[in-house]
Amino acid sequence: MTETYTYKVSAAGRVNLIGEHVDYCGGKVLPCALSLKNTVFVRPNGTDKINLSWTDLPDKISLELDKLESYRHLKHAKYHAGCAALWREAGHKLVGCDLLMDCTVPFGSGLSSSAAIEVSTISALATAAGEEFDPVEVALIAQKAEHEYAGVNCGIMDQFVSANGKAGHALLLDCATLEREYIPVRLGDCAIVIADCKKPHSLVTSKYNERRGEVEEALRLLRTRISVKCLAEVAPAVLEENRDLFSPVVYRRAKHVVEECERVRLAADAMRAGDMKAFGELLNASHKSLSELYEVTGKELDSLAHAAQSHPACLGSRMTGAGFGGCTVSLVKKEGEEDFKKYVAEHYTKETGYKAVFYPAELSDGIVVEKL
Ligand code: GLA
Repeated sequence: MTETYTYKVSAAGRVNLIGEHVDYCGGKVLPCALSLKNTVFVRPNGTDKINLSWTDLPDKISLELDKLESYRHLKHAKYHAGCAALWREAGHKLVGCDLLMDCTVPFGSGLSSSAAIEVSTISALATAAGEEFDPVEVALIAQKAEHEYAGVNCGIMDQFVSANGKAGHALLLDCATLEREYIPVRLGDCAIVIADCKKPHSLVTSKYNERRGEVEEALRLLRTRISVKCLAEVAPAVLEENRDLFSPVVYRRAKHVVEECERVRLAADAMRAGDMKAFGELLNASHKSLSELYEVTGKELDSLAHAAQSHPACLGSRMTGAGFGGCTVSLVKKEGEEDFKKYVAEHYTKETGYKAVFYPAELSDGIVVEKL
């Protein structure tokens, strides 16, 4: 079926190792692109339509090139329509084409299936039009599509690593400047284990946007006293000195952000030095902060992370992504990995009734274009 297409263009899902809920505060993050990805088979079709189909859905949808802004009500296709509309608005050429989507990033898992879909769609549209593209620009337009067509006021982390990730590496991304460094992931005798809590998460969008509002409020209040560009550049001691400015909730949110930024710096050092013990401890501290200060974990992610942290082969575990459901990422001694999974799955089901699912954590490239 796919042999009649001209290109195969894919973009990656991601796991964030550390630096959670700081990208939209100008902080640094440390995500990795995964081999779980969205692949788009594409061929120009000589019409004025983008025809969409999916390997795992019966839907077939035709988007007219001159009506791209009118598809916001569509469940799946709004992402593609939005990406196409915004890519053209940014000055790029679109041509009629057929796109066949094949996604291996589990939906709702917090591993950024939507970023993978957006980034691969834009790259496929550019490829069909015979254009070279800049993966950084693709990521920025994909983020805009998420804001304007999916209603999530997200930061740049997911789309950036989905486009620019590198196999075997973590991406240390400064979200204020988009400067990046690729750090080789050398885990020694450890492995990364990703576990999905499988709790259906419904309120992510509203809760996510609410958190963003709270940290913007923190920045606004700080600026009445000191000059700062973003919350990420505020040292924990400075936040403390100005504590009287904030309500208890806003203070807790800001405290998470400034301390998480410190942890990212330390975690990047630990990764460069191959110090897995230190890295693991930072994962645990990050989870605690996301649970108690940022309040984005919930019973299920707490139960999954705590079960992981209590296993002897585990050096550290935390929730990854937006939270309110989704996955944990754990650092586990390879020799104990199988026992770890069994133990975590049993404890988690006993506590919550849900069945955890484990995904392969193979670190891959961001966008890959192949001529067929
Ligand atoms: C989601 C968003 C990202 C980031 C994370 C939390 O994945 O899309 O921009 O804010 O949540 O770190």
